[in-house]
Amino acid sequence: MKKIIIAIDGHSSCGKSSLAKALGTALGYAYVSTGDMYRAVTLYFIQNGVNLEDAGAVHEALRNIRLHFEHGGQGNRIFLNGQDVSQEIRKMPVANLVSPVAAIPEVRREMVRQQQAMGARKGIVMDGRDIGTVVFPKAELKIFLTASVDERARRRFEELKEKGQCVSFEEVKNNLLARDRIDSTRTDSPLLQANDALLLDNTFFNLEQSVEVALDMVRAVLAKLDSPA
Ligand code: DC
Repeated sequence: MKKIIIAIDGHSSCGKSSLAKALGTALGYAYVSTGDMYRAVTLYFIQNGVNLEDAGAVHEALRNIRLHFEHGGQGNRIFLNGQDVSQEIRKMPVANLVSPVAAIPEVRREMVRQQQAMGARKGIVMDGRDIGTVVFPKAELKIFLTASVDERARRRFEELKEKGQCVSFEEVKNNLLARDRIDSTRTDSPLLQANDALLLDNTFFNLEQSVEVALDMVRAVLAKLDSPA
């Protein structure tokens, strides 16, 4: 069976990573949440006091950053210079700075280079904001995932509440709207639905239902690839 590249893009907190992981598991493909890479770079910038306005400092920092993923029982773990930072990158200081960091062209160039290398042998599901438009413009399947902002905020709010974090629904919703705005309006690789991406609105779906719809899309692509021209 041919292996393909599956690109998933979409707004913050609409379940891209969960879908990528579930598809990767179902198909026996690798899966990578590229947001984790931008988050790990942001953590390095915070830990080392890198000034985002200083191009020389950003360049130097990128030379000193080594990222790698390890696949474990709880899913992918991301390592920054050999240290597992999978928990740390989910916290608020990183969440608050990641969109400006991800808007820096040199940061994007380096992340895209690494992401393209990961997909060189296909058989990968990658999620982010520019996967179908910039990283893999020739991906065999592109999914643009979305959900209403209230539903995304509700899911994120419930998740934070379960983790014992004390935030209001309004705060969560405003953070989502702010990130969507920065990600969609930046000059370098803004979040866009690629012309050939299939829209999947999961406002009224649970994860299993989203996975079923996405697997139908995969089957359709594979059947087309296997059929004689
Ligand atoms: O997917 P996420 O919410 O963990 O991503 C964190 C931030 O990284 C998000 O605000 C936008 C940025 N990002 C990006 O610019 N390009 C990607 N391919 C993935 C994430």
